[in-house]
Amino acid sequence: MLNHKGFDLWADSYDQTVNACEESNEYPFAGYRQVLGEIYRAVREGDGRKVLDIGFGTGVLAKKLYDNGYTVYGIDFSEKMVEIAREKMPQAVLLWHNFSKGFPALWEAEIFDTAVCTYAVHHLNGEEQVAFLGEVKRHLTGPLFLGDVAFETVEERDRCREAVGEGWDAEECYPVAELLRPAFPELRFQKITHCSGILVLQERRSPVEKGSGQKKIPAVPKGKAPAGCRDLL
Ligand SMILES: C[S@@+](CC[C@H](N)C(=O)[O-])C[C@H]1O[C@@H](n2cnc3c(N)ncnc32)[C@H](O)[C@@H]1O
Repeated sequence: MLNHKGFDLWADSYDQTVNACEESNEYPFAGYRQVLGEIYRAVREGDGRKVLDIGFGTGVLAKKLYDNGYTVYGIDFSEKMVEIAREKMPQAVLLWHNFSKGFPALWEAEIFDTAVCTYAVHHLNGEEQVAFLGEVKRHLTGPLFLGDVAFETVEERDRCREAVGEGWDAEECYPVAELLRPAFPELRFQKITHCSGILVLQERRSPVEKGSGQKKIPAVPKGKAPAGCRDLL
């Protein structure tokens, strides 16, 4: 698994690598543009203009939202990625932050209309994902979209892993809907390709809550995070 220095080195050629992999419809980036495109459309259909991008990378998705007038906040732990994204989006609020340490304390009082996270959450293991996504949700009034190498079931993931063979990155912990649903019962999954999908975390809010303005932030206990990608069940 790449650390922040690994992503610094990858940053300049990241878009080319992704495009080449996508064009050949291969794991891990088969369907990349469709994943980002669907999330972009869904964000645009929703209410609100303040968006958080978690692990924004070179800013492919964030920049589209930025160009359409969204107020973009983002976190990423690669200095080089932050530099590239900042050049493209000078007015965006971009923070150099490692999300394995949790939600940025600096933004504890911030509330966003929606959050997106594409091809980044798999850098956390299963328990860390639950703890971190729970934290992110406390800062949202709207949906959280996760686009990634992702599956509805463990069986589907394992079938994909077998088909990919040696190229499968066992250190990355790809989100599986049925494993996350006990923590997030509202979770919906949309399959995009043989190896990609979109998870949407959105509470069904009552009309009273919907119109109630500023959201309260309830406390969520932090889970302990063991190393390595382990299933939650
Ligand atoms: C594969 S790239 C995806 C970039 C972009 N979201 C996209 O869809 O093209 C993963 C990004 O997540 C960032 N990242 C990975 N682990 C992270 C962590 N623990 N904290 C903050 N950023 C992280 C990397 O620096 C990188 O920019």
